[in-house]
Amino acid sequence: IKDKNGIEQVVLQNPRGASVRVSLYGGQVLSWRNDRGEELLFTSSKAIFKPPKAVRGGIPICFPQFGNRGSLEQHGFARNKVWVIDNNPPPLHPSDSNGKAYIDLLLKPSEDDMKIWPHSFEFRLRVSLAADGYLTLISRIRNINSKPFSFSFAYHTYFSISDISEVRIEGLETLDYLDNLRQKERFTEQGDALTFETEVDRVYLSSSDAIAVFDHEKKRTFIIKKEGLPDVVVWNPWEKKSKSMVDFGDEEYKQMLCVDGAAIEKPITLKPGEEWTGRLELSVIPSS
Ligand code: BG6
Repeated sequence: IKDKNGIEQVVLQNPRGASVRVSLYGGQVLSWRNDRGEELLFTSSKAIFKPPKAVRGGIPICFPQFGNRGSLEQHGFARNKVWVIDNNPPPLHPSDSNGKAYIDLLLKPSEDDMKIWPHSFEFRLRVSLAADGYLTLISRIRNINSKPFSFSFAYHTYFSISDISEVRIEGLETLDYLDNLRQKERFTEQGDALTFETEVDRVYLSSSDAIAVFDHEKKRTFIIKKEGLPDVVVWNPWEKKSKSMVDFGDEEYKQMLCVDGAAIEKPITLKPGEEWTGRLELSVIPSS
């Protein structure tokens, strides 16, 4: 299918009726629905589906830079590029294909990209939906240049939640984090699950490979599993910042929470010919 601007979107469906929608613009997942048709990702009612800005919601990919930690545009250029469908990707493990609906996308730098970031790469993204409704994103980034390069990365996942004051995150207790609201200074998290009562914009460092987001009111829990992605970004803009974003409703911060599998503090370095893989698996389970 095509969106209003003529950019292609791909819909994946599993036999039980769960679905995932991916846009070639940014290689961005824009929707993930369970078998009851409930949307699990947040997209702003004010989102702008028009280049050159990433859509506010779903799972934009931050690459090759996270945030403003470098000279590139905020969160890098990958989320603002039109990707192509990769019909013949190098093989993945059979368990990444068997019984799954999937699509492979490819991003290569244009001549203009090479002017601002002079590194030749192939970025392959597989988005897959399993029979049990699990959503998996596998990114493979290969250096096809003759010199090394470094990058940071995040799956900037906007979860749809009932109410920000009713959710908690488990799996980040006692970790160190960099606080983007305080000059990226380093702090240590206390022993309790993370709850929200104000703006949060943090990079938790070296977390375990599973994080849980409990939504008390909706009685469901998102499980985030990751590989190759040591860090976790947690972001909610809260009231004041929401009002300053043109593509975000004033009250919408209550219904979203970004929790990203990421590699930020220690950039990934690839030598010529080397490939990096970053994998994210999202699932949702009922909870009380
Ligand atoms: C977060 C950053 O991950 O993304 C925030 O840490 C930023 O500082 C947010 O505001 C949204 O970024 P953008 O570019 O999509 O508005």
